[in-house]
Amino acid sequence: MKRVDDFRLKFGKEEYVPIMIGGMGVDISTADLALEACRLGGIGHISDAMINTVTDRRYNTKYVKDKLKQYKFNVANSDKAVVQFDLEQLANATRLHVEATMARKQGNGMIFINCMEKLTMNGPKETLRVRMNAALDAGIDGITLAAGLHLGSFALIENHPRFHTAKLGIIVSSVRALQLFIKKSARTGRLPDFVVVEGPLAGGHLGFGMDWADFKLEDIVAEVLAWVQKEGYENMPVIPAGGIFTGSDAVKFLEMGAGGVQVATRFTVTKECGLPDDVKQEYFKADEDLIEVNQISPTGYPMRMLKNTPAIGSGIRPNCEAYGYLLDASGNCSYIQAYNKVIEENPNAKKISEIHVYEKTCLCTHMRNFDCWTCGHFTYRLKDTTNRLADGRYQLLTAEHVFKDYQFSTDNQVALPELDEAAV
Ligand SMILES: Cc1cc2nc3c(=O)[nH]c(=O)nc-3n(C[C@H](O)[C@H](O)[C@H](O)COP(=O)(O)O)c2cc1C
Repeated sequence: MKRVDDFRLKFGKEEYVPIMIGGMGVDISTADLALEACRLGGIGHISDAMINTVTDRRYNTKYVKDKLKQYKFNVANSDKAVVQFDLEQLANATRLHVEATMARKQGNGMIFINCMEKLTMNGPKETLRVRMNAALDAGIDGITLAAGLHLGSFALIENHPRFHTAKLGIIVSSVRALQLFIKKSARTGRLPDFVVVEGPLAGGHLGFGMDWADFKLEDIVAEVLAWVQKEGYENMPVIPAGGIFTGSDAVKFLEMGAGGVQVATRFTVTKECGLPDDVKQEYFKADEDLIEVNQISPTGYPMRMLKNTPAIGSGIRPNCEAYGYLLDASGNCSYIQAYNKVIEENPNAKKISEIHVYEKTCLCTHMRNFDCWTCGHFTYRLKDTTNRLADGRYQLLTAEHVFKDYQFSTDNQVALPELDEAAV
């Protein structure tokens, strides 16, 4: 019986443990989590989602406060077109996070940054250009382009000296998306170094409609593998993601010809994960019927989350002057419309607690505060991966424990950690 460790993720002559921990914004996949994957010989991701906010919290910058001060005059205005990001600050924030992470790197693995193109930031092309170039400047090993794949994104960094040496990959949910991307970026003379194929059971945003349940990761992966073979791209690792819960699940894909697997949900309950500890307990406690895919994300993509997430139905005022990561090129976000509609319908409401917006959510504010509990489909199995402690809480895991469980387990088994009553 094979184990994940019998396989290697190959980029040319380089070889890695074929386990990639997926990017989880906003700072849920922390530097600490990514560094553990790297130390153990695999690949970890930090995320550049709401990077200014993350650097404020981690490195004591004041980017959010400064931005709010600059645009305070616009808070009551629904038109957010003036609320622009300072591109130099954005570059500095990105460099700060990447440099600080890379300086702590140990082991033989790599650290990539997850770059979600749906963070349109009131200037989609320019902000994406700055984010990607700054991450390359600061020495990131690779970039994974996610959510809302911008077909021209390779062209935005084609003049960077590291364009041909850094690892660049994309996340797709269909063979068609991969075909389109490769066709559109052919002019840059560069193929993606890897492709993550994300199926409908993943956490975060889904690359499917509300008919997501009609799709199967195995089928999409088989289609992608067949196509890359046919086109002669067999050296481009295909990396399935979404619902791969045990080492044996991973082996099934590696035996099909996948280069590695991308996993995330099992790491949400590790001590290195950025979620607050009480939120990690919510993930442990969740039963299957508490997990839903809904349409409250202003990005327009379905998103999977726990039904008891505080973000659902919250009536918080749009916070675009401070954040504004989802503003489109014209300064719109669908939460602003949804919020204004509820305000008009409830003219006598005085307090936030009297206002409930169910149609959309203010994703920036709620992700920033860890109040949007996005999760993978199999979150309800997390309780079976650890010990229940005397006080009823669940024992937190370490990233090393979960990583090695994927790497070495067989027979669909999940290794429980040694009982530690203090690990919550
Ligand atoms: C809490 C959470 C947050 C996530 N955030 C992001 C994100 O910011 N960007 C992204 O591309 N994928 C995101 N994902 C998807 C993961 O990177 C990964 O591809 C997927 O969840 C793997 O499936 P699994 O969770 O079943 O292992 C997120 C997943 C989770 C569980």
